[in-house]
Amino acid sequence: MTQDELKAMVGRAALEHVEAGQVVGVGTGSTVNHFIDALAGMKGRIPGAVSSSEASTARLKALGIPVFDCNAVGEIAVYIDGADEIDPRGHMIKGGGAALTREKIVAAQSRRFVCIADDSKRVDVLGRFPLPVEVIPMAAQRIVRQFAALGGKAELRLSGGAPLVTDNGQHILDVRGLRIGDPLAFESTVNQWPGVVTVGVFAHQKAQVCLLGTAQGVQTLRFD
Ligand code: A5P
Repeated sequence: MTQDELKAMVGRAALEHVEAGQVVGVGTGSTVNHFIDALAGMKGRIPGAVSSSEASTARLKALGIPVFDCNAVGEIAVYIDGADEIDPRGHMIKGGGAALTREKIVAAQSRRFVCIADDSKRVDVLGRFPLPVEVIPMAAQRIVRQFAALGGKAELRLSGGAPLVTDNGQHILDVRGLRIGDPLAFESTVNQWPGVVTVGVFAHQKAQVCLLGTAQGVQTLRFD
């Protein structure tokens, strides 16, 4: 099976976690795109979705699924999103698609986080994937130096030769060379650095369930 077939398999499997009659939180990325396509098949049974990016919003709307603002809904029953890495406790690195801030906002508003990922995303310790960090542009180079003091090499993410601009009008640093053994503490520390909008460690908003796509089928990992 190709990686994309594994992503499609878990995207479809996530439908079982969508509660009829409830707004569903929708993440961002190629795995979630498969989920959105599958969700179109049950659009009459849910009022709609809350989305974590302009890209997902556009895809949802193109399929006729209503999209609500976070402020227009209360607690969201379930949030479905991918990950760049997931550890044995359900902590994740996210933000490869630059949507980490809105992803963390929707995850924080949701009762359960169901992560959908192919099995290449599973790691023992977070840090192999370059850690995305959304930053206020004027603080970027100071934050680069703060990561260097931790042994990390941070680089501004580019798009077409210019700094990538997020849906929130900010920039992304990708940090290599970190080994994140205590994700909860790491997330709390980096979030307090002035100019950091969001660090792509999801430990305080970890997954409760991961649907892992493997050659043998969907493996369900539970973390609570
Ligand atoms: C988007 O910003 C990310 O957090 C994605 O959830 C993550 O990069 C996984 O993406 P894929 O599903 O495309 O692998």
